Amino acid sequence: MAVKYVKNIICGGSVLLMASCTETPVSKENAFVENLLSQMTIDEKLGQMNQVAWGDWCDMAKKGQIGSVLNITNINDIREMQRCAVEESRLGIPVLVARDVIHGYKTIFPIPLGQAATFNPEIVEKGARVSAIEASSEGIRWTFSPMVDISRDPRWGRIAESFGEDQYLSSVLGSAMVRGYQGDDLTDPTSIAACVKHFVGYGAAEGGRDYNSTYITENSLRNVYLKPFQSAAQEGALTYMTSFNDNDGIPCSANKKILKDILRKEWGFDGVVVSDWASIGEMVPHGFAHDNKEAGMQAINAGVDMEMVSGSYVAYGKELLAEKKIDIKSIDEAVRNILRVKYRLGLFENPYFENNPEILYAPEHLDAAKQAAIEGTILLKNERNVLPLDRNKVKTLAIIGPLADAPYEQMGTWVFDGEKERSVTPLTAISQMLNVSADKMDGQYKFNVVNNYSNSNKVSGTTNVIFEPGLAYSRDKNKSGIPAAVSAARRADAVVVFVGEESILSGEAHSLADISLQGAQKELIDALATTGKDIIMVVMAGRPLTIGDQIDKSAAVLYSFHPGTMGGPALAEIIFGEAVPSGKTPVTFPKMVGQIPLYYNHNMTGRPASRTETLLNEIPVEAGQTSLGCTSFYLDAGFDPLYPFGYGLSYTTFEIGAPKTDATEYNMNGVITASCVITNTGNMEATEVLQLYIRDLVGSVTRPVKELKAFERVTLKPGETKEVTFSLPVSELAFWDADMKYGVEKGDFLLWINNSSLPSESAAFKVK
Ligand code: NOJ
Repeated sequence: MAVKYVKNIICGGSVLLMASCTETPVSKENAFVENLLSQMTIDEKLGQMNQVAWGDWCDMAKKGQIGSVLNITNINDIREMQRCAVEESRLGIPVLVARDVIHGYKTIFPIPLGQAATFNPEIVEKGARVSAIEASSEGIRWTFSPMVDISRDPRWGRIAESFGEDQYLSSVLGSAMVRGYQGDDLTDPTSIAACVKHFVGYGAAEGGRDYNSTYITENSLRNVYLKPFQSAAQEGALTYMTSFNDNDGIPCSANKKILKDILRKEWGFDGVVVSDWASIGEMVPHGFAHDNKEAGMQAINAGVDMEMVSGSYVAYGKELLAEKKIDIKSIDEAVRNILRVKYRLGLFENPYFENNPEILYAPEHLDAAKQAAIEGTILLKNERNVLPLDRNKVKTLAIIGPLADAPYEQMGTWVFDGEKERSVTPLTAISQMLNVSADKMDGQYKFNVVNNYSNSNKVSGTTNVIFEPGLAYSRDKNKSGIPAAVSAARRADAVVVFVGEESILSGEAHSLADISLQGAQKELIDALATTGKDIIMVVMAGRPLTIGDQIDKSAAVLYSFHPGTMGGPALAEIIFGEAVPSGKTPVTFPKMVGQIPLYYNHNMTGRPASRTETLLNEIPVEAGQTSLGCTSFYLDAGFDPLYPFGYGLSYTTFEIGAPKTDATEYNMNGVITASCVITNTGNMEATEVLQLYIRDLVGSVTRPVKELKAFERVTLKPGETKEVTFSLPVSELAFWDADMKYGVEKGDFLLWINNSSLPSESAAFKVK
């Protein structure tokens, strides 16, 4: 128990009486924080602003030199460090324990990009709740998630950690994640503080190269990049992290405009801003500060409350104060923010945690992870309804590819705590599904059986499973295993090949200039295609890959952004039709890297391309300079992507009627009621994601060709019809204009309701 704080937390204690205490929670919080602040020395204040990742934690905690730690993993160390802080430091201020819990702690959910493909905020919220429950049971009360960086460049490895290219989808899902982490009551021991990152624009790194500079104009900063950050602030996110990049010459850890004017003043944020790892010190190599001291000064003056690991605040804070380069008011404000967050998390009253090993990998956590992986899997192609496979008809199944049995790789990037031994691979899950159906009915999947499988035939029930990976891992260039894979395919009547990326190929610092399949995976698909069999290609990756050729050679394609611990069972259920795919692309898939950046909600050029453009191979020799239409397209790639945003097929078919609006004119304060009729015209119950897009036809600044404004998952039985209605307040059509004023402009709009961002019939309306 935090004995020292009893006097401070009880309203009416001697010190608090002087701090005008009343019963309202906010003033109680303020009184508490002000009282504590008034007792702190400069060193203790700077200590609170210090986040460390190594060192003698207990000693530092006793001396009040740390406000937060990250990456302590041993629960006994956490407990001891907290005991030192709470029971042996002068003021007993608890330490906030942080960790990157990005898409699961032990039970690993699909990477955020895969969660985005669900278009389901409930799934995302549930995943974050599970993460919080598991992480807090080992003493973690702060995670550096969600990452809501708009990501329009699949070369950027961190696209894996994002919700994709769209600001509305990222806002809805980012807020859902914040809710999941923080729970209903912040003081609940299972609530952990969210950290919305990276503030801001990090996803726009030039050339998709991580840590690179960005050049985001204020128009797109406000209309695109800031949107999900603002929505997370409205959701009550407790903390934000500054990003590594400099935008238009200003490193984000020294950007007063975004940190003070926008985050604090415009959005009213009163939580903690933490720097990214050494991003304050890195202002020196950026060429923005001469040394760490100057970098620390810039960050404090810009409003970065806590410094992650670079130590300049504790090293130079006092000197900077003495030299009047920083102000005590800035220090006090930072410390207030930090104490406030600790107070809100109930850390002063309850600094310790109940270790609960049973909660890790709890069956309901695994079920939630499996459901997320099912809903996040996208069916990109399904010729002749090759999928789902009928387990009663498949006599011999060939399972091929380096990702079929790669328990570590399927977890994806940013997995510090998940254990590959607990991952269920597709090979394991399919084998269990076919051989041991009783296990499946219990909902229990056997673990640790992954390595029991050798490359031998498995015979049981009616299906013979042959496993021939062909390649040992995704970058493997050794083709010696390919003939055996081809032979397996020839002997089988169904061929499923699992390809993609190892987890290390995406995530932080893992950008790629070539985003096609690595190693000899293309050759593997080419060789399998020579068998004439229907190839079912399953891709597990951290980004959209340029796989047009391999898609052409496959009869069916499932895309599963690294699906996590339960990826195998999820894919097994989809492949055998126990679950129906409903995932949608949260990013545009380019045909080739040269098309990047390629995103659906771009502004229209003055010379939009049409489908009649002459492509490279059709151009006559010695064609005249002006003979090609003079529009905006690539001679070799046209202008279409491989797959557009919001795209994904189902095992059933849906018919979606033309959208209707309840009026053709709306006032500024009106609400647009838009509806459409959707029918399941196939023969399986399934879920479709209806997406509502609008276009503002003429603006005082050019507007995107389409903007997602709402979406809904609709589940229909075969033959069932539903009218689905969306209510869209006219205020949702607002944008920042050239003078950075936010509002709706009068004029004409188009509205679509469809199951992707592809063209469909529109409804027109006016705002007057
Ligand atoms: C650097 C990464 O950019 C950030 O996302 C992460 O939270 C921190 N390191 C802490 O590990």
